[in-house]
Amino acid sequence: MTVQGTYSNRGLRLSYLEAGPTDLAAGAAAGSAPALLLLHGFPFSAAMWEPQVAAFSARCRCLVPDLSGFGESEPTAEVVRMEDFADDTRALLDHTGVERAVVCGLSMGGYVALALAAAAPERLSGLVLASSRAAADTPAAAEGRLASARTVLQEGTGGFAPGFLSKAIGASTAAGQHSRIEALVLAAQPGAVAAAQRGMAERPDRRGLLGEIRVPALILAGEEDTLIPPEESRQMAAAIPGSSLVMIPGAGHLANLEQPEAFNQALARFLDALT
Ligand code: MLT
Repeated sequence: MTVQGTYSNRGLRLSYLEAGPTDLAAGAAAGSAPALLLLHGFPFSAAMWEPQVAAFSARCRCLVPDLSGFGESEPTAEVVRMEDFADDTRALLDHTGVERAVVCGLSMGGYVALALAAAAPERLSGLVLASSRAAADTPAAAEGRLASARTVLQEGTGGFAPGFLSKAIGASTAAGQHSRIEALVLAAQPGAVAAAQRGMAERPDRRGLLGEIRVPALILAGEEDTLIPPEESRQMAAAIPGSSLVMIPGAGHLANLEQPEAFNQALARFLDALT
């Protein structure tokens, strides 16, 4: 059973999905099911985790926020920093009474997961970084984001989507999946896309944090990812004590959507090892 909820943080009305093994709609407690917090990538929403919610809600209490400005959540004006998203995420854990969760972030969601790990490490029982990185943007990449923010405000998400998708989707991904993913991107609001681009451009280098992570960690990467090359994922896994790395064949940057079965198998093995 999946239910949609709302809560407030930073003066914003924020939305999330919750799905779990008990009847959450009837207000029943989720019992001892481990909490799995799924943080979406840019410029998506909670909807991008549909294949994972379907696979894991029988065993986990899945909490899936729409980050500010995306899906049903109110936007942060001008710029939304990864620390803002992380604070909203911590507030969601408070709102739902979850002490600790396995935090799984894809790409921008991974930047948020690392910001949460820096600010509130006690809230994590595990960390999954998918198609993500700990390094900050290079000056050129940050400049490119600011230009992209200006463009999307002028041209709308329709002008932004083709360039983004050409880089985000792996060469092996079938045309049918392409249109499904495109629809998710086109649903984004230009103001939210711009605010997130500006926030990502400002994000700090968190590579120093990796060696301090004390919870079990899994790094997932698509073998065909050109936005965050697999080599960066290897380096990140090498820097996190005791972490494991799974490379997903036939997937680009959006591995959870492009190869959901392989993604889910890797996540399931990780969760099995935790319990
Ligand atoms: C994402 O998938 O979240 C973005 O590609 C992240 C980024 O632009 O760095």
